[in-house]
Parts: sequence; structure tokens; C-alpha cells
Amino acid sequence: MKGVILAGGLGTRLHPLTRVTNKHLLPVWDKPMIHYPIRCLVAAGIDDILLVTGGNAAGDFLKLLGNGKEFGLKHLNYTYQEGEGGIAEALGLAEHFAEGEKICVVLGDNIIERNIKKAADDFRAGDGGAKILLKEVPDPERFGVAELDGDQVISIVEKPKDPKTNLAVIGIYMYDPWVFQIIRDLEPSERGELEITDVNNAYIREGRMSYQILDGWWTDAGTFGSLHRASNMVYEGGANRVD
Ligand code: G1P
Repeated sequence: MKGVILAGGLGTRLHPLTRVTNKHLLPVWDKPMIHYPIRCLVAAGIDDILLVTGGNAAGDFLKLLGNGKEFGLKHLNYTYQEGEGGIAEALGLAEHFAEGEKICVVLGDNIIERNIKKAADDFRAGDGGAKILLKEVPDPERFGVAELDGDQVISIVEKPKDPKTNLAVIGIYMYDPWVFQIIRDLEPSERGELEITDVNNAYIREGRMSYQILDGWWTDAGTFGSLHRASNMVYEGGANRVD
């Protein structure tokens, strides 16, 4: 399975911090934010990684990360998203890289305490479809929210005003190659973007979506509150623990 990190966007919720740089280069405690998703993939045994960037200071990723030697990688792949077409559009740029393999996609501002090794191993061994990771949160209206029926995910609603559950869909997704066909057929949402939640709902409609509940804490870091919280959580407990 290959890895794809989505680290584009204009980061407007963090202006003026992101007026001249990319959100994923900002510090989270003692490291640039982008270090955490790379470590997340490496800890899951994924070492063929594509970084999709865009917006401001895209060239700085190359200066910062080079070929990924400090993460134990031999090579890192890069591509560039023009404009603001959404998470699913950015993922569409990974089709050539994926070359028909399964992929694990991580949003560049998602940080986890532990690791996704078991979920990744299960997905590698399974017969395709998609897998999402869920976490109970106190503020589900900020995220994609999953509704379950037994061991099935029956729907995901993006940022619902009145969430049916408190199960957030975290920004780590596993897909088989069908994902690129779904993305080609997507229509932009009301905010003019191709939504990852629409991709996930396409898998749910086909009965090809599984889920696991994430162990340990999870946070995003795309707002002032969550960026601050992410730094505190990493300071207190470290991230991407493999024990
Ligand atoms: C995105 C997804 C959302 C998901 C979240 C996780 O939201 O659209 O479904 O729960 O990432 O971080 P965004 O942070 O782009 O608003």
C-alpha cells in the first residue's frame, strides 16, 4: 500500500499565520506540522509516499523534507495542486502515483497519539473497498460525522448542524483504486469543492466501506484552537507512538 499526504490549501482559517507560508509548515510543538503525517505513514509500514501540496510556499517542502532521509525514507514524491478544488480533487492528482495499488491518505493537519498499523495491515490483507477511522469527539459538528448500524457505516454527513452521533471521521482514509473513478464522477459541493465525504458515501452506497475506532487521541490543527491544542497534546504525550 502506498501513502498520500494532502498538504495544499490556503489555510484561510489561520490568517495571518498562513498569508505567506503553508499551514503544514507551521510548528506543532517542536516540529513542522507536516512531520506528523509522514511519521504516521512510516509507522504503519508505508514508505512509498506522495506529498500533494499547493498554495503558498510549496517549494519550501522540498527544502524542509528533501528525500525524507530523516524519516528513514529513500525517496519522497511531490505534486502540486493548482487552485482550491478540495480534498478529493487533490487526491485525484495521486492516480498516476498509485499505479493501481491500494492507498492510505492522510490529511496533512491530522495528528494522532498512537498509530494505524493494525488498520493498515487489515486493509492490505482485505479485498479492497475503503476504510475510515472514527473517533468520539465533543464537537462533531466541526467534522464529517458517521452514523453506524451494527458493524456497518450507513452514512457520513459533512459538518452537520445537528449531528446524529459524536463519531468524527478522522482525516486518515484507505482506498482501493476505484477511488479515482469516483473522483472523476464527483460534482462540486455548494462551496465549490470536491468533497472527501462524497467519495466515502459512494463506497458506503456500494456496501464497500469498513471502519475502525482509533486508539489514543486525535486532533486536527487547521484552526487557532486546534493548532494550539495539537501543540499541547504533542508536548504532553508525544505523537505517532508505536508501542
Ligand atoms: C476535513 C473533512 C472532514 C474530516 C476532517 C478531519 O474537514 O472534510 O470530513 O472530518 O477533515 O480533519 P476540513 O478540516 O477540511 O474542514
